[in-house]
Amino acid sequence: MIVFVRASCFGARHTQKMSTLEELKKYARERYIPVMSDATKQLLYDTVAERQPERILEIGTAIGYSGIVMLSAASEATLNTIELSEQAANRARANFAEFGLDGRVNIFVGDAREIVPLLTGKYDFIFMDGPKGQYETFFPYLTELLTVGGTLVCDNVLYKGLVEHIPDDKRHKHITVARNMRAFLDDITADKRYRTTLHRVGDGVTVSTKIS
Ligand SMILES: C[S@@+](CC[C@H](N)C(=O)[O-])C[C@H]1O[C@@H](n2cnc3c(N)ncnc32)[C@H](O)[C@@H]1O
Repeated sequence: MIVFVRASCFGARHTQKMSTLEELKKYARERYIPVMSDATKQLLYDTVAERQPERILEIGTAIGYSGIVMLSAASEATLNTIELSEQAANRARANFAEFGLDGRVNIFVGDAREIVPLLTGKYDFIFMDGPKGQYETFFPYLTELLTVGGTLVCDNVLYKGLVEHIPDDKRHKHITVARNMRAFLDDITADKRYRTTLHRVGDGVTVSTKIS
C-alpha cells in the first residue's frame, strides 16, 4: 500500500512517498532527524528476527524507522512506541501506514517519563532509544514490564565515545548525559537478572536477555 503523506510537518512543502527503508533513512538524514546507524539497524533486525517477539515496546519512535525495522523482522509482533514530539509521531504514523504496518502499531505521544510508569501488561522485547540521560530512570520500570526470557536492547550506550572517556571539563555539553549513561551501563552489565552483551556498533548497543 502506498499512502501519500504531507512532508510539510518537517519543513518540506511538497507531498512525498517513501516506499523503502532506504528512502525513509534518506528523508530523515536530510532533515537531521535521528535514526539509527546501518550497523545498529542490522543488529536490531537480526536480534528481532532471531527472537520473534510478539509484543514490542519502544521508547523513542522518531519517524518510525526502527519500528518498521522491528516489525519487518517479526511478522506476528505488535509495537507500542512512545514519542515526545507530535510532529515526529505524525510522520511515524504516516510511515507505518505506508509500509502497511499501521494495524500493528500504537503510538503514544508524550513524555516517556510520564507514560512508562503507567504502562501495564508484559512485553517480550523492549527497544530503548529515547532521551539519552534517562535510561537509568526507565530501567526499573522496563525490568518490571519485560517477561523472563525477553530482550532489552538499548542504543547509544557508549554515547559519542564519552561513556568510556568522560571529559574532565565539568562544563562539557554532554557530561551529564555521559555520566548518567555510564551509571546505566555499569548497572545493566552487573545486573544478575540479565545476561548482557555490549556491541561496539554505531554508538554502542546493549542486548540483554532477562534470565530471572
Ligand atoms: C534517537 S531518536 C529515536 C530514533 C528511532 N528509534 C529510530 O532509530 O528510528 C530519539 C527520539 O526520542 C524522542 N524523545 C526524546 N525525549 C523523549 C521523552 N522524554 N519521551 C519520549 N520521547 C522522547 C525524540 O523526540 C526522538 O524522536
